[in-house]
Amino acid sequence: MLQIAIIGDIHHHFNQADLTYFNQSAYDLILCVGDLANWRPRPALSVARLLAQLEKPALFIPGNHDGVTAWQLLAEVKEWPWLARLASWGQERRVRALHDALGPLFWGGYTAHTFGAGEDEVTVITARPHAMGGSALSFAPYLARQYGVHSLTQSAERMMRCVDAAASQQLIFLAHNGPTGLGDQATDIWGCDFRPAQGDFGDKDLRIAIDYARQQGKRVLAVIAGHMHQQTKNGQIRPWYSQQDGISYLNPARVPRIFRQGKSQVHYYLSLTLNQQTLTAAEQYIPGMISRHHYT
Ligand SMILES: [Fe+2]
Ligand SMILES: [Fe+2]
Repeated sequence: MLQIAIIGDIHHHFNQADLTYFNQSAYDLILCVGDLANWRPRPALSVARLLAQLEKPALFIPGNHDGVTAWQLLAEVKEWPWLARLASWGQERRVRALHDALGPLFWGGYTAHTFGAGEDEVTVITARPHAMGGSALSFAPYLARQYGVHSLTQSAERMMRCVDAAASQQLIFLAHNGPTGLGDQATDIWGCDFRPAQGDFGDKDLRIAIDYARQQGKRVLAVIAGHMHQQTKNGQIRPWYSQQDGISYLNPARVPRIFRQGKSQVHYYLSLTLNQQTLTAAEQYIPGMISRHHYT
């Protein structure tokens, strides 16, 4: 059996209670989809230092708020390449600081990591780092310098090489933003909720890599990504789970992930259990472990 905890976009909401809970839990692996804070380095570093104290294997993929500045985010939103180039200066240093603060956590971005054993062995492939959705090559100057990736095609190729190198036949993809192909409505799992025309806000490069993995005969168990927060701009709730062609798609980005429920405060995350090749996904709440819906 392989038991995985999935922590969605943290955006400041991770504390000592989470740390104690996960360290005392039976989880074998913790996956974090990124966005530790809201671009400001200091709060992100303090969340990272807490995550560094996790006593379980943990894997982190940086989001669009990790290691970047407000100027960079503005350049991406406005699609101003000149500002994106200018503001990209220093991203390596900012990312390194975050990387150091995360201590023993595995840092994702075009990487493959194998966990578990026997029929519950799985390789987790991490997608394009700092993805911001909409099939845009976000933070392009940094991706070019750091990874030699200049286009979505090259990004997909990097992920496909990770698929080729995967030690296990069973794969999980971990990304900051999900793939295309799961709907173009605001309330779809990675649908756009901030444009009147809505649209599919997934990433094409991740879709290409998932389809490639299946064509290679790999068993893609799950695709895990956040970024498109569960509550949409007009207050509707998008699903945390979707299934297509036998693949489970999970979006753990309930923001804030710590909130009041009745008289108590709960901390949200998702669980994913692989037991003799059967996958079970569930929403979880700390304390009390109230499990609302689950899919097998
Ligand atoms: Fe986020
Ligand atoms: Fe994000």
